[in-house]
Amino acid sequence: MTAPDYDVIVLGAGAAGLMCAAVAGQRGKRVLLLDHAEQVGKKILISGGGRCNFTNIHTSPDRFLSANPHFAKSALARYTSADFLALVNAYGIAHHEKTLGQLFCDGSAKQIVAMLLEECAKGSVDIRCGQPVRTVTHADGAFRVTFGGQDFIAPNLVIATGGPSIPKMGATGFAYDLARQFGLKVVEPRPALVPLTLGGDDVLFRDLSGVATPVEARAGKAAFREAALFTHKGLSGPAILQISSYWRHGEPVTIDFLPDAPQGWLTEAKHNRPRATLASVLALPDRLAQTLADRLALPGELGALTDRKLAEAEARLSRWPFHPNGTEGFAKAEVTVGGISTANLSSQTMMAKSVPGLYAVGEAVDVTGWLGGYNFQWAWASGHAAGQAL
Ligand code: FDA
Repeated sequence: MTAPDYDVIVLGAGAAGLMCAAVAGQRGKRVLLLDHAEQVGKKILISGGGRCNFTNIHTSPDRFLSANPHFAKSALARYTSADFLALVNAYGIAHHEKTLGQLFCDGSAKQIVAMLLEECAKGSVDIRCGQPVRTVTHADGAFRVTFGGQDFIAPNLVIATGGPSIPKMGATGFAYDLARQFGLKVVEPRPALVPLTLGGDDVLFRDLSGVATPVEARAGKAAFREAALFTHKGLSGPAILQISSYWRHGEPVTIDFLPDAPQGWLTEAKHNRPRATLASVLALPDRLAQTLADRLALPGELGALTDRKLAEAEARLSRWPFHPNGTEGFAKAEVTVGGISTANLSSQTMMAKSVPGLYAVGEAVDVTGWLGGYNFQWAWASGHAAGQAL
């Protein structure tokens, strides 16, 4: 057999692959990092509007979706948001907390990519980009990767090619094809952190395109209190992106339009302002207030309406059911829910239980974070776990 060129080949130079390669390289491993894109870390560069929301100080396992909610605990505990922040600080990258624990660069996401490249350089990682990975085979304990016209051999292979969200940026389902090739299961991938589309009875709400308001959005047992935004296709905004990860086709998404209003506020409004109309007492953007009042079909002055009718209206405003007919799909999804089954991987090392030397990290794995820096934290933590184990 040909002598291996490297100790490990990492496929995918995104957030998880760069971290994994840097950690393994700095531990003295000979690392080859391959990517089909011309440039490393493309999603990092566009993330957070170009400022990269690189972690969240409130990271905890309950902010991640997975068929096994315990899987992420080990890696997240061993490489925390404070660890990544220490690295960012060591490079003197100025940053700020925007909201809800979300840390962003003051300057540019380019600083995060430059930092990771510097970390890779410290580990003498060999980075090659801009060629397709043609085939991956495994024989006699070695992985052979054909990249462009060249073959590379190593006893370890890390799948870090992410999920299929935003294909126009070079995202692919390659990780899943590879996983299946090696007998690993893939939990059905779905677009997540994605706008929802409205049709049928809800279609009129699309006329409110551009209107935003703070709400509480719910799907099943999940609830998020943030802004919702009406779009020309349906619903978006942080509350909706968050709930989209939990939403399943056929289920409603309910919206509390006045999450801070105390119970009975509408009957109280009737007693205080009997001549007011329903639309005028809704503390919401005018167009939205009018649309909701029209839908509730309670015209005229509040004083003329029964308390029962007002209680019903109040209940509906706090649990307004929308019936999304879909999402805007992988083209618009920030991440993918599902992926390589955690049942097939070690939560300590990220290695496949049935294929020694094969690892999977980052978004390729069935672990998906909430909006707000959690997905990068998973990429860093899982990349770090594998990098330490290699
Ligand atoms: P990632 O997608 O980063 O990297 C995969 C790499 O594999 C890419 O370089 C790709 O080119 C390569 N690849 C794919 N297929 C290949 C193939 N067949 N052969 C060779 N190479 C291949 N998260 C967050 O925490 N904070 C944020 O601010 C944002 N913002 C954000 C904005 C937008 C617009 C998107 C689309 C996503 C985000 N995210 C985010 C999510 C975050 O970008 C995502 O979770 C991580 O990039 C996942 O890191 P990975 O390394 O797993 O995959």
